[in-house]
Amino acid sequence: MNEQPKPKKQIGAPMNRVDGHQKVTGAATYSAEYQLPNITYAVLVGSTVTKGRLSGLDTKAAERAPGVLAVISHLNAPKPPGPKPEGKDPSQPQTQGNPLQVFNDDKIRFNDQPIAVVVADSWERARYAAGLVKAQYAKEAHQTNLEANADKAFLPTAAKKNPKNPMNDYQRGQVDAYKTGAVKLESEYVIPTEVHHPMELQAITAHWEAPDRLTLYDKTQGTMATRRDFAKQWGLPEENVKVIATYVGGAFGNALHSWPHEAAAILAAKVVNRPVKLMLTREQMFTMVGYRPYTWQKLGMSATPDGKITAITHESIGQTSSYEEFTESTLAQTRMMYQSPNVTTRYRLAALDIGSPIWMRGPGEATGAFALESAMDEMAYMLNLDPLEFRLRNYTDEDPEKNKPWSTKFLKECYQLGADRIGWNKRQLKPGSLRDGDWLIGYGMGVGTFGAHRGAATVGAQLLPNGTVLLQCATTDIGPGTGTAMTQIAADTLGISPDNIRFELGNSSFPKAGTQGGSSTVNSVGPATQEACLALKDKLRTLAGAAFSTAKAEDITFEGGQTVMRNDANGKLPLQISLRNNPSVKISYSDILRQNGQQNVSATVEAKPGGEGQKYSMYSFSVHFAEVRVHQLTGEVRVSKLVSCADAGTIVNEKTAGNQMKGGAVGGIGMALMEHARIDDRFGRYVTKDFADYHVPVHADSPDVQVAFVNQPDPHVNALGTKGIGEIAIIGVAPAIANAVFNATGKRIRELPITPDKLI
Ligand code: MOS
Repeated sequence: MNEQPKPKKQIGAPMNRVDGHQKVTGAATYSAEYQLPNITYAVLVGSTVTKGRLSGLDTKAAERAPGVLAVISHLNAPKPPGPKPEGKDPSQPQTQGNPLQVFNDDKIRFNDQPIAVVVADSWERARYAAGLVKAQYAKEAHQTNLEANADKAFLPTAAKKNPKNPMNDYQRGQVDAYKTGAVKLESEYVIPTEVHHPMELQAITAHWEAPDRLTLYDKTQGTMATRRDFAKQWGLPEENVKVIATYVGGAFGNALHSWPHEAAAILAAKVVNRPVKLMLTREQMFTMVGYRPYTWQKLGMSATPDGKITAITHESIGQTSSYEEFTESTLAQTRMMYQSPNVTTRYRLAALDIGSPIWMRGPGEATGAFALESAMDEMAYMLNLDPLEFRLRNYTDEDPEKNKPWSTKFLKECYQLGADRIGWNKRQLKPGSLRDGDWLIGYGMGVGTFGAHRGAATVGAQLLPNGTVLLQCATTDIGPGTGTAMTQIAADTLGISPDNIRFELGNSSFPKAGTQGGSSTVNSVGPATQEACLALKDKLRTLAGAAFSTAKAEDITFEGGQTVMRNDANGKLPLQISLRNNPSVKISYSDILRQNGQQNVSATVEAKPGGEGQKYSMYSFSVHFAEVRVHQLTGEVRVSKLVSCADAGTIVNEKTAGNQMKGGAVGGIGMALMEHARIDDRFGRYVTKDFADYHVPVHADSPDVQVAFVNQPDPHVNALGTKGIGEIAIIGVAPAIANAVFNATGKRIRELPITPDKLI
């Protein structure tokens, strides 16, 4: 056997995506692209009023239209046996995770709520027939404006029920102590509704393979969560439902929840007894699959004249729907980011006649950080301090909320990296000091943090006869490159080339994993991958022991896809190899299988977090530095430079992790400068329902975002040392840009997005 070159260390290496080629060549199959035999197409009909009841529904013309197989509404829909939309106390909105049930009653709860689904033998025919459905309504007065309903805002039910729920009011030190502070600031901040708008539209192909067996090709961030939801709804054992999401073209949070269109497609497939494909239109993406909720925040802060924060009060009112209570951790960052002896937070919700919100990248924290990090900047100006210096004066070496040490925190290192790269020393304390012709130039920074969450995950690993390794896990990869990162972790652990590893995911039948959300996938599935590969090696070692005959387990090591036995271990060799002059003897993995007469070796391992979370406070941190140019006459804002630095523990793949940071930064540009889903409150209807009116950043709106990682392992989250990147990539970007705009112009914009009309 020849010496093989030692494989390069894979963790950290900037490797291309394992599925990149499939994705860019169109070979990757997304949820709407499964061509099942006998497939049919479904199109939803939405309510044109915002609140009330359906007093009549005329479906005759639609039913008579060519190719139509069924028109399903509350009048004729079968009722799945599962959970009903109304809970025990109908006066209270339902808690998270109880999505609207379609066609269950005649009630209209929001504009464009699905009221019927048309199924036909082609999408065009279904769409045509959907236009023939005529509805009459008994309208009621609706409420879609948060400010107008702020007086009715309430503490979430989940918080009322559980004193430990983090949505409860928080207090450290004295209540509202900022009011008596030496230097005092009171500001209000608004972020409008923003919509995820991933490139891939929400889509599902539902197939009842038997009356009690359901297969869903579905855009979801959690195959197992979707399986659970619909198994429950149809009263089926979970193993009778299979959810496949091999490829997901972005989601940013909107596939963390089960939505009416999924329920409708499953229902429709039941009625026509054929597979049904349902894909939302871009317009429907505004109304049916969640959004970042409109949020109104008030922030009070006080500091000593030498720049020590003495108190912060942060209040937030976010919107939710009338039928479901959505909460997010808007105020979490304020409790733990800065050293302040007095902190008060109050979180409230206002229930409006709109669809339910859902977590959107950096959920809660991205909203909260806009207020906190803008206020930090405002206070720095009041104190005549550099905002970076102000943050350093209030840096915390332990978590002031939980009174625990950080597992790791390298935020100071991030500050340094970022300040160097943006050229922070060019920044002038006085706004409007720098210009280039008609363009005013300014610099700003914003900090982000998000919990380093980890959940249980299981990975199955199999060594195949040709020496390659197949791994499987139910986790999804919505775009960050999970499959690639896991391939690298496996390659490193097994000491073989990533080319010889295949990581399959996005299937609820694979070993279980949580939903891809909350920056937790690498933290959770990473260690499961590592441990499954270690278990595989243990088995190989045993088999190699047999192959080497008398060698002891500890004499056997691994190298370059081969099992190695030291020469002095005195093993009896199975092959015709001379031990003379060889320091060690190697046997390839596939030869081990052959020697033992086995087809494959497999190991399935569940990895769970231990008790480290009790001892340590675990967070990822980021800081974003922005350079903006604001045109004096037109008010146009260009982000000319953006530097994002992160302490996210070990970086598994510098390339995909860097891409993830860049994507988050671009999302932050959208949040800061463009995104605004606006409702005309007279009708309760969105007026921004396409990309002409709802602007998102394109290439020309983004600079070449620079990314830097501290890349220090966190020994407490998991053995890999990872902490998570997804959320901190966007949290803090919007305030960095808003703060830079202030530095350029002297105009403090506290209501996003910062459109030109606000600057001229
Ligand atoms: Mo994310 S908002 O956890 O998809």
